[in-house]
Amino acid sequence: MKQYLGIETSCDECSASIVSVESGQFRVRHLTTFSQTKIHEPYGGVVPEISSRNHLETINAVIDETLLHAKVSPQDLAAVCVTNRPGLVGSLLVGVSAAKAFAYATRLSVVPVHHLEGHAASVFLDQPEVSQKIKFPCLLAMVSGGHTNLYVIREPWGKWPEEFLKSSLVGRSRDDAAGEAFDKTAKLLGLPYPGGQLIDLKSAGGNEAAFNLPRALPDRDVLDYSFSGLKTAVSLVVKDLRQKGELESRLTDLCASIQAAITDALMAKFKLAYSRFRCESVVLVGGVAANRRLRSMIEKEFGDRFFLPRPQYCTDNAAMIAAAGSFRYEQGIFLTPSQHLTLNARAHAEF
Ligand code: KG4
Ligand code: ZN
Repeated sequence: MKQYLGIETSCDECSASIVSVESGQFRVRHLTTFSQTKIHEPYGGVVPEISSRNHLETINAVIDETLLHAKVSPQDLAAVCVTNRPGLVGSLLVGVSAAKAFAYATRLSVVPVHHLEGHAASVFLDQPEVSQKIKFPCLLAMVSGGHTNLYVIREPWGKWPEEFLKSSLVGRSRDDAAGEAFDKTAKLLGLPYPGGQLIDLKSAGGNEAAFNLPRALPDRDVLDYSFSGLKTAVSLVVKDLRQKGELESRLTDLCASIQAAITDALMAKFKLAYSRFRCESVVLVGGVAANRRLRSMIEKEFGDRFFLPRPQYCTDNAAMIAAAGSFRYEQGIFLTPSQHLTLNARAHAEF
């Protein structure tokens, strides 16, 4: 059994975790996440400078609490895994510097982790049966506030060469990510940031067909998404309802219609990619995987060929970074204490 310390600070969650790995099974020993959501809420989105300053204030306490609760000391660890790309560069730097300092003092190795590889690994956390059940090719749908990416994965996790996700990408959003579409339309409705979960909650009991909103790129052959048209359509509906003084009374129906437009568009491309690439399973990860309509549609369509992370591991967290880092560590991709100083944060590392 090996244990890893994970650190994640790429956006507005300051998170540390201890994950133990044994025979391909990932157990979260402890996860501490300090979410800055409330701090950014008045600004209607994440303010990078505030995010990095807050990470600086909380990171040491978050790491200490994690080690304490997991009852783990540095000599029990195999390595420190840290998100170093992509994300807000000032925020990433706080996590990377904390990881380097911790590893330097304890003579541990550091594993730099791509944030999206972390999301991809989140499906294994505290679900020992999943790695046996996923069949390949596997459609991996990464649907978050920053990404709407579809990948076709042909080899098991852990056998991936570096930058492997790049060559597996088969579809993506051409403009806003799906989570961003939720957040931006929620803002138009006057709901606080981040609005995805609120739209999900407020949709309950609403009439999805009340407003005729566009589905992104309905063209049958295209695997890409586009959500900017939806934003425009919703802003026109909101203007009209405001003028009539009906926004409050029609809010549930409008939320249900927005949710249906986004999730129908997601689902249409999942089905297209699944059949085009003859996939045998589907993995859905990222914050939007928490959406109840999307989950139930996928469950209905793909049944026991469908896998998703436990809800607490869908949004940004350090446990998924530790899991992804453990794969890279086993492949020999890490920095020894004498190499730490070369590690830097990178804002852009798209795939
Ligand atoms: O993966 P994540 O935590 O952060 C990024 O890496 O982006 O995803 C956050 C996104 C936000 O846009 C949020 O509104 C959305 O996930 N989200 C949801 C739900 N819960 C979170 N969207 C729709 N329905 C939900 N229940
Ligand atoms: Zn994320």
